[in-house]
Amino acid sequence: MFPRVAILGIGAMGEALAAGLLAAGWAPDRVVAAARRETRRAEVERRLGIRCSLDVREAVDGAEIVVVAVKPRDVAGLVSVLRGALHPSQVLVSLAAGIPTSTYEQGAGRDPGGQGHAQHAGPGRRGGHGDRPRIVGGTGRRREGAQGAGGGR
Ligand SMILES: NC(=O)c1ccc[n+]([C@@H]2O[C@H](COP(=O)([O-])OP(=O)(O)OC[C@H]3O[C@@H](n4cnc5c(N)ncnc54)[C@H](OP(=O)(O)O)[C@@H]3O)[C@@H](O)[C@H]2O)c1
Repeated sequence: MFPRVAILGIGAMGEALAAGLLAAGWAPDRVVAAARRETRRAEVERRLGIRCSLDVREAVDGAEIVVVAVKPRDVAGLVSVLRGALHPSQVLVSLAAGIPTSTYEQGAGRDPGGQGHAQHAGPGRRGGHGDRPRIVGGTGRRREGAQGAGGGR
């Protein structure tokens, strides 16, 4: 059984990811997206055959993996809306270039005294997550000591 994936922000990257998952065999009901405009929401459902919500909190509900695919300038707003909605068992993956993983932890109100709890997608790194969602960084990251997974934009 494939994990359920929620893709928050379904623009160029989000759509490419969703299409790739579907092409790789993910059932459409295992992929959910969140858009912020009704026209885009309806377009995504028509084009990809997946559910697309205008409510990011609804979209993450029941997802094992949450992918942030909004522009870096939109991350703060998204994180504030997500506050309290993420479950400890969920893995959050950020594609947003230049956004440190601490942004997600602090925005979610889960930074334990500034220690941070970031995990990232660099090679050979894999971490546990205690009582917090595991947070995986994406591209072009500024985080100290981290290797990003690629060049961001
Ligand atoms: N494109 C690339 O080649 C590339 C490569 C590496 C990394 N990235 C990273 O991937 C991320 C996405 O890039 P992109 O090129 O896919 O951007 P994009 O095409 O602008 O897509 C972002 C989407 O997020 C939506 N959005 C913004 N805030 C939202 C919210 N609160 N709730 C729901 N949807 C929201 C936008 O809606 P609207 O349509 O209303 O604006 C847009 O559809 C960026 O952070 C970028 O740094 C991109």
